Amino acid sequence: MKKITIADLNNWKKLGEKFASITAYDASFAKIFEEQGLPVIVVGDSLGSVIQGKPTTLDVSIDELVYHTKCVRAGSPNTFIISDLPFMSYHTPDAACESAAKLMKAGANMVKIEGGSWLTGTVKMLTERAVPVCAHLGLMPQAVNLYGGYKVQGRTEEQATEMLETAKELQRAGAQTLVLECIPAKLAQQITLELDIPVIGIGAGNDTDGQVLVMHDILGVSANYIPRFSRNFLAETGSIEAAVTKYIDEVKQQTFPEEKHSF
Ligand code: KIV
Repeated sequence: MKKITIADLNNWKKLGEKFASITAYDASFAKIFEEQGLPVIVVGDSLGSVIQGKPTTLDVSIDELVYHTKCVRAGSPNTFIISDLPFMSYHTPDAACESAAKLMKAGANMVKIEGGSWLTGTVKMLTERAVPVCAHLGLMPQAVNLYGGYKVQGRTEEQATEMLETAKELQRAGAQTLVLECIPAKLAQQITLELDIPVIGIGAGNDTDGQVLVMHDILGVSANYIPRFSRNFLAETGSIEAAVTKYIDEVKQQTFPEEKHSF
């Protein structure tokens, strides 16, 4: 696979070509994913749930994200890697710079941060210092204690309007991609259409530019439950390679996610 860059993601958005992404945490799976032609891997703080078996992502540290980013980069030299900044590693712009530098040195192409308007200064500061940023709106798992559970976001008109405006603000601040998690499909479609940057959805319908799923969910081996918006592709295909290929193809054809996977 040729080296994937942000220019490819931008180009796919322009051409209306949908792209797939999966989370990964180690070199062996990352290698399989790259060999199957997966262009984007997210090294997510979801590792707190699926690797460490914890109920939330809050206890994941920057050192753990650095370790897993290095593992994934070792297995997938050409894949575009987005690595999460974990809880309280970007609570100030200075802390964000320090944490992001560690992920970039570990092999990330971009760092992802969860949050709205309060992050615009941080996004600007990171971008100006050559750290590409993926914003993350909708259900932000690091804020689970504010919501009182993992709940679909942006259901009211007021929340939807605010999310659209916030997405634009983050784009203006310099964010180069946006993840939308667990929001109504219609809202995700509107945000995708109104933004110039590629938008990657999870539980956000099939009109976003890209899709991302947690690796353990598509392989049906999660320590926790498999969320409604995901699908066990391994059970349908019988091999990891075929599961990944089927997922990539279905995202490209927009046959995944279906309505039953959306809100
Ligand atoms: O932590 C994670 O794995 C994520 C992706 C699902 C987007 O944030």
